[in-house]
Amino acid sequence: MIKPRVLITRRWPEAVEKAMSASFDVTLNKADIPMTAAQLQEALQVYDAVCPCVTDRMPADLFVDNTYKTRIIGNYGVGFNHIDVEVARGKGIMVTNTPDVLTQATADLAMTLMMMLARRAGEGERQLRAGQWKGWFPTHMMGTMVTGKTLGIVGMGRIGQAMAEKAHFGFGMRILYHNRKPISQAKSRRLQAEYCTELTCLMSKSDFVAVHCPSSPLTQHMINEKTLAFMRPEASLINTSRGDVVDEQALIKFLKKGLIAGAGLDVYDKEPQVPQELLNLENVVLLPHLGSATEETRVAMGMRVLGNLNAFFNGEHPPDKL
Ligand code: DGY
Repeated sequence: MIKPRVLITRRWPEAVEKAMSASFDVTLNKADIPMTAAQLQEALQVYDAVCPCVTDRMPADLFVDNTYKTRIIGNYGVGFNHIDVEVARGKGIMVTNTPDVLTQATADLAMTLMMMLARRAGEGERQLRAGQWKGWFPTHMMGTMVTGKTLGIVGMGRIGQAMAEKAHFGFGMRILYHNRKPISQAKSRRLQAEYCTELTCLMSKSDFVAVHCPSSPLTQHMINEKTLAFMRPEASLINTSRGDVVDEQALIKFLKKGLIAGAGLDVYDKEPQVPQELLNLENVVLLPHLGSATEETRVAMGMRVLGNLNAFFNGEHPPDKL
């Protein structure tokens, strides 16, 4: 039987590249260089399935032809704002993603950013590595407690709830959340989580605001001058979702003026570019989109793509069809 031709656009962990190659006629991007728009366009005419990731932009204008060989795009990642799913569907291409498997890793990273900010871990490490540490003294780099503080979660989906669990049960934090609709009563009772119908109400009451909502026309620049203005000067912002949910220029302005205490960011508006003004600030922790970057998670993401493709080519319903 002829195996479906599958393109994997970047290197994946070895175990999943092997598993994919056992099931399909796989082309790997051995050089691991991001593909150009022209290469992605060509791939849609050559492969039965294309497996992109967050760096492969597939907006509406990438799909210029009327018919394609590709019948499924198996995205390696949960976020899919880089793919115009509607347009792909209109051309007869199904799109799948990889939910669930990166929930804990991403929530862990949001906790890491919160802890690093609160305890000034980035600043401390920079000082020590620069040979500027003069020894212990009572007022050296005092941070703030996380335990017992209030965490406001913007977007109470899988990852938001996982962070709430860790923060509430691990650090005794009070949980507020803003979401399109309240979570179930059982869940909110367990976390003692309070629903804020207004984002601005959450922003004004939280010591830490963590952004977990997906990027969409509705959430674009949802954290902006107007909403940031509700934050307290001692409060900090954490973003592990997508860069465009936060208006970066507004955030820089608030950080520079000391109108908020700090920011912990794993995602940026124009990745991999990070504004120099952010790089210059001490009160920010900046990570290079590492939310799902654990060995276990990246393998699980690949296995999830494999499961979707297997289902599709067996004539079944892929579990993660968008
Ligand atoms: C995700 O899965 O959305 C991660 O941010 C990587 O794309």
